[in-house]
Amino acid sequence: MPTPLIAGNWKMNGSLDLIESFGRALADAELPSRLEVALMVPFPYLEAASRALTGSRAALGAQTLSDQPSGAFTGEVSGEMLREVGTSLVLVGHSERRTQFGEDDSAVLARVRRALECELTPVLCLGETLEERDADRGEAVVIGQLEAVLDGLEAGQRSRLVIAYEPVWAIGTGRTATPEQAQAIHAAIRRRLARYGDGLAEGTQLLYGGSMKADNAADLLAQPDIDGGLVGGASLKIDDFLAICQSAG
Ligand code: G3P
Repeated sequence: MPTPLIAGNWKMNGSLDLIESFGRALADAELPSRLEVALMVPFPYLEAASRALTGSRAALGAQTLSDQPSGAFTGEVSGEMLREVGTSLVLVGHSERRTQFGEDDSAVLARVRRALECELTPVLCLGETLEERDADRGEAVVIGQLEAVLDGLEAGQRSRLVIAYEPVWAIGTGRTATPEQAQAIHAAIRRRLARYGDGLAEGTQLLYGGSMKADNAADLLAQPDIDGGLVGGASLKIDDFLAICQSAG
C-alpha cells in the first residue's frame, strides 16, 4: 500500500509571508501518522521555504527543472541548484508546462532523467484534455504519456517516480473529476505499472490533481488507487490544505 502523499503546487503564486505562515502551521499541525506532505513553491521562495519547513514534516518541491545540468540557458534552473537549496521533489510534465511551454513527451522524459540524475524525486504529471475525454480517448492519452517516460527509463529508475493524474479539464476549473472517474484512470495506471513488474504497481504513489478541495478530498482519497493529491488553488489556503491533509489519514 503506497504511503499517502498530499502535495501543494502553488504555481506562480505566494509570498515570503505565506511561506513563513505555512512553515509555522505545518510545524504545529497534528497530521495523520503515515501521511507525507510536500509543498512545491516558485523558485525564488525555495531557500526561504527550505528554512521555514525545517521542523515540519513537509518536504520541499519545485515545479519544473531544466533538462540540462548547466550552461547558457538563460532563465532556466538546474536540478543541482534545486538540490543545493533543499529541494527533494520536482514536478515534471505538468499540463501547464506541456501546453504553455511546449513540453512534449520527449522533453518530459529528458526532465525526468535529469531529476533522477540529481537525486530528486520526479512527480510525473499526466492528464487528458476535455476534447480527448469526450472522444473517449482519456485513458489512452494518459497511458501513452506514462509509457513515453517509463519506456525510456531503466527498471531501477521507474520505482523512484511519483505519478500524478491531473485531468486538464479539472485543473483550476472547480470541475473536479468524480471519485469514480478518477479511480478508473488511476486503476488503469496501476494496471499498466504492474506490466513493468518489479513491484512497481504496489509501490508507486498515485496522486490525483484537479480541483481537489477540503470538501471533496475525502471521497477522492477513499478510492483504492488514489494515494494522495496534488493540490493547486486550495494549497494556498492553510486551513484548506491542512483539511485535505487530515482527509488523507
Ligand atoms: O498541480 C495541481 C494543479 O494542477 C491542480 O490545480 O487549482 O485545480 O487544484 P487546482
